[in-house]
Amino acid sequence: MAKSNKCVVVKAHAIGIPGPENFEIIECPIPRLLPGGVLVRMLCASVDPGMRGWVSVEPNYMTIPVGTVMRAPGIGEVVESDHPNYSAGDLVYGMFGWAEWFAAEAKDIYWKIDTGIAPPPVWLGSLGINGITAWIGYRYFGRPKAGETLLVTTAAGSVGSVVGQLAKKDGVRAIGVAGGAAKAYLATAEFGYEQVIDYHGTPDLAAALRIACPEGIDIFYDNVAGTQADTAFPLLNPKGRVIQCGSASVSSWLPWPTGPRRERDMIVKRLSWHGFVVMDHADLFADALAELSELYADAKLCTRQDSLDGLENAPGAIQYLYSGMNTGKLSIKIAE
Ligand SMILES: NC(=O)c1ccc[n+]([C@@H]2O[C@H](COP(=O)([O-])OP(=O)(O)OC[C@H]3O[C@@H](n4cnc5c(N)ncnc54)[C@H](OP(=O)(O)O)[C@@H]3O)[C@@H](O)[C@H]2O)c1
Repeated sequence: MAKSNKCVVVKAHAIGIPGPENFEIIECPIPRLLPGGVLVRMLCASVDPGMRGWVSVEPNYMTIPVGTVMRAPGIGEVVESDHPNYSAGDLVYGMFGWAEWFAAEAKDIYWKIDTGIAPPPVWLGSLGINGITAWIGYRYFGRPKAGETLLVTTAAGSVGSVVGQLAKKDGVRAIGVAGGAAKAYLATAEFGYEQVIDYHGTPDLAAALRIACPEGIDIFYDNVAGTQADTAFPLLNPKGRVIQCGSASVSSWLPWPTGPRRERDMIVKRLSWHGFVVMDHADLFADALAELSELYADAKLCTRQDSLDGLENAPGAIQYLYSGMNTGKLSIKIAE
């Protein structure tokens, strides 16, 4: 076993998008197995937009204290176990950290992964929390019906790519918005979208959305908030459902941004607007995973991965994600 543990700790909470100045790479002792937990050797760890909130100076649903290892969903090999369901050699997915070794409590472990079904990075993305987020937002809150029109922002992203493919399966007309022509092409070619608007290359997004959604929008799966959401809202049909999954375009909530007021639309059109945090819906995970893994096994769930090599790249990884340069689920490769 190695003698030390390279890990990325939070150095200072951030205003806006966290960058290398907010993290520090240190060597520390390999952590001890915790009672009822597992000690894992990390293979790969996720980079997620939501991490911005975890290390923000602003209040959030979860905050990583300064001086502690940056938490991240990841996949690791169990090296020692004090849990009856896990043995040395198992590959497990859970809320671990940006580190070579992580001592997880039982509550941190999501589930065992089977590399016979899919390789580890797919278990972090389409068959992981991102795919499940897509499923819960779309199926549970979106309540889709065949023939409806769905609009999705960050259509080519890890969550957006799964939403488009679920919609296609259901006969729901999926329209996307994505940053750049390459992403727009990818989302139409591989992720089930009928049409995707490149918001970087489209001077009049409102006009483009009106043309793409001539019958209005029944479900708006929003990952970005801000201008794109403001532009989409007037096109919502009566009884439309807005799913607020993310707010990637808002770089800071200090001061709180302002925008058009939509309360009257909410009343007159009888709209619903659901915000959710995926981890509150563990009771739906098995149903989500069953449908997603069946689609994957039938080669009907396209996934794209984007990987950074080594923990040295972790401190700049959230900035890289927010630059929009990622194509697919972003993760950090830590070991073979
Ligand atoms: N509610 C939950 O429980 C939950 C769970 C997981 C994820 N999420 C949310 O789901 C969303 C998608 O997550 P993901 O993991 O699939 O990430 P992702 O879409 O793969 O990557 C993030 C994308 O955000 C877009 N973006 C970044 N800055 C932007 C800006 N200023 N304006 C507009 N778009 C911008 C970029 O796409 P473009 O280049 O296409 O703009 C970037 O590729 C995020 O908002 C995340 O916070 C929510």
